[in-house]
Amino acid sequence: MNYKPHSGKLLVLTPGMGAVATTFMAGVESIRRGLTLPVGSLTQMQCIRIGKRSANQNPMIKELVNLAPLDDIVFAGWDVFADDAFEAASRAAVLKPSDLAPLSDFLHSIKPMTACFDQHYVKRLDGPNVKKEKNKLELAQLLRQDIRDAIKRTGADRAVMVWCGSTEVYIEPAECHKSLKAFERGLAANDINISPAQIYAYAALMEGVPYANGAPHMSADSRAIEELAHEKKLPIAGKDFKTGQTMMKTVLAPAFKARMLGIAGWYSTNILGNRDGEVLDDPESFRSKEISKSSVLDLLQKEVYPALYGNLYHKVRINYYPPRGDEKEGWDNIDIFGWMGYPMQIKVDFLCRDSILAAPIVLDLALLLDLSHRAGRHDVQEWLSFYFKAPHVNHGNTVENDLFIQHFRLKNTLRVLAGQEPLTHLEESNEE
Ligand SMILES: NC(=O)c1ccc[n+]([C@@H]2O[C@H](COP(=O)([O-])OP(=O)(O)OC[C@H]3O[C@@H](n4cnc5c(N)ncnc54)[C@H](O)[C@@H]3O)[C@@H](O)[C@H]2O)c1
Repeated sequence: MNYKPHSGKLLVLTPGMGAVATTFMAGVESIRRGLTLPVGSLTQMQCIRIGKRSANQNPMIKELVNLAPLDDIVFAGWDVFADDAFEAASRAAVLKPSDLAPLSDFLHSIKPMTACFDQHYVKRLDGPNVKKEKNKLELAQLLRQDIRDAIKRTGADRAVMVWCGSTEVYIEPAECHKSLKAFERGLAANDINISPAQIYAYAALMEGVPYANGAPHMSADSRAIEELAHEKKLPIAGKDFKTGQTMMKTVLAPAFKARMLGIAGWYSTNILGNRDGEVLDDPESFRSKEISKSSVLDLLQKEVYPALYGNLYHKVRINYYPPRGDEKEGWDNIDIFGWMGYPMQIKVDFLCRDSILAAPIVLDLALLLDLSHRAGRHDVQEWLSFYFKAPHVNHGNTVENDLFIQHFRLKNTLRVLAGQEPLTHLEESNEE
């Protein structure tokens, strides 16, 4: 084993206690009480082959590597609304009242800390549970104190942070993002280019807490925060959980590419009616999402295959439609072409449940970030790209969006962490 074994309790900190975070918390408790299974979580359900195929060794991931067991997870979060996790989960209406009722004591016990929030960065949101300080350096110090207090209150040994808050407006990298020193100067000077999400990321790393970003806006993906992660020897990962439509896209696009089928156009639309949808109804927050959702088709390498993908017209739409709640519909029309240029069409209509798909990702990220930390792996954890729409990579590296390549890399990293050989599939054919 190439890492420090787990002991004590692991605190999972979530800025944002809305649909995704509360579905994650309720699900973990429900699994712990034996009421449900951890469906969708690789760390809890997936097996992984080690050694030659003939050896027939397929331990579960959680047996291969020493992850914190669910019983040792404790929770804390922040939100701009003062609702506890039960009230927030009831409001989000992802889970049925009959599934929440048996967990009410547990969920009522998780009360949000006051948020570091500014409506300038999330136009469609306004709530009362917000820190009053206006200076960003002071806000960072308060968040650091919150982290220390939460660790003490929950009796945790260590913590990880996964951003589950709303999508902030799109921000271009600015001077304050170029180095840690510039960022800290920016905090003190209340630089407008530093959003609350960036302050949480900074506070987490300053407190020795690994950080992952589940939303598409900038938080840890700046030179400044990367520098801090490097200095503190901490893992970071992001960004934007890969759940419904984009997950399907990163399955289908590699299939067309593998078969050298061309794509003329890909039109994707979504209707959703949860608070996330309401926030994304603002064009500036949508801009962050549009960029992360659009970039996934870069995996087609149009510069390498201009005849197949050079003229691909890619359009992504998100429409806020309240009657649908969290039960989003993601609809895709794909115009492909084959032999002698003959056109064909594919329609995908994914009637999904956003937070049901995102909750196991939060769990896996929390456990795998903690594992990375104990293994001394720091900086950007590209092997966790599997979980993200717009993977954050180390400077100069190309992004990999193909779900199967991402999965292969994730499993090989776990094998190596467990002291096993990575798989190449190049064993002697009679041994494969
Ligand atoms: N559900 C999915 O499938 C999915 C997929 C990819 C990404 N995401 C992203 O995950 C995030 C959470 O999604 P959700 O459906 O839970 O949204 P939600 O609106 O239900 O919850 C977000 C919560 O964050 C809070 N919040 C906003 N800014 C905050 C701040 N600065 N500090 C503390 N709390 C803050 C809001 O009050 C809200 O309660 C969103 O950014 C969303 O885009 C979700």
